[in-house]
Amino acid sequence: MPSLTEVKHYLKACTDRDHLWMSRPLAVASLLVILVLVKSCQGISFLNSREYKIHQLGYPLNEAHTLSLALSDQQVDSLIALQYYDSLACSIVSQQYFIQDHFTRYIAYHKTDTAGTSPTDIVAIVNVNGDNDWEKTAVKCDTTRGYLILVNKYHYLDSTYKRGDMVKFQTTCSYPGNEAARDVVDAFYKMQEDCKKQTQAQLMVNTSYRSFDYQTEVFKIHDKSIVATPGHSEHQTGLSLDITSIEHPEKWSFEKSTEGKWMREHCHEYGFILRYPAGKEHITGYGYEPWHLRYVGVKTASRILSEGITFDEYYAYYIEQTN
Ligand code: DAL
Ligand code: ZN
Repeated sequence: MPSLTEVKHYLKACTDRDHLWMSRPLAVASLLVILVLVKSCQGISFLNSREYKIHQLGYPLNEAHTLSLALSDQQVDSLIALQYYDSLACSIVSQQYFIQDHFTRYIAYHKTDTAGTSPTDIVAIVNVNGDNDWEKTAVKCDTTRGYLILVNKYHYLDSTYKRGDMVKFQTTCSYPGNEAARDVVDAFYKMQEDCKKQTQAQLMVNTSYRSFDYQTEVFKIHDKSIVATPGHSEHQTGLSLDITSIEHPEKWSFEKSTEGKWMREHCHEYGFILRYPAGKEHITGYGYEPWHLRYVGVKTASRILSEGITFDEYYAYYIEQTN
């Protein structure tokens, strides 16, 4: 025989079950209402989103999504204020070296560009300040960057600047009087030794450090497309070398020689980059110079080579932007 308490528990359990059963339609209806409310709220919040506002300017939803992730609130607001639609905008923000702060300048460059410059080049040119007149906007170099100092049209050195660790090259592999930073000289010795073993040719330093005054003389007599204004030459840093070989002393025949080709292929292993490559004149500001090496250290040289960028671009993206 069950006890009175057991009977009471049994009856209560039955009542609870029945109660649940009776309220199921109500629960389902409530759930539906909640779902509808959630969906409506999501819809309202999408209508208020940056993505939707950008979409309303004419960008397809996928591009609006990309732009909303890449741009700041302020930039999105200004796109909306200007009612700005540009089929290139999404491609610009998707570039590997896109810098958010430069977005307005990329767009401004594109608007006035008549040469059909690609998004990749627009980003590269603006990143290195190529959208500005260098003679009006050049600033002093940051001399605290060590081997990564940037000297170009937009960054200049004081006329008195000279590194404190300069040493002279042995005259067996350099024309007399040439000097450079100690590590650069050592790196060159290693490179020329390996080059000799592999090509039997002797690399020579044609010119390395050039003082402001010496650069002034060079500037007077040479083609401006390959010679920097005094103060703007990285030869003044003591980190640059113009190379030829005993076998091919003329710079263009050096380029085609076995040792010239070897040097281009291997110089990064010693910390050097080809500073003014062919096809990058619009970024470096100078014509192709197969003889001009710049020391940046092995790690940076290898990265610049593998990414296929110039030192100007490297500096803008990896150094300047992150500081
Ligand atoms: N040839 C390079 C640009 C210089 O004059 O520094
Ligand atoms: Zn040079």
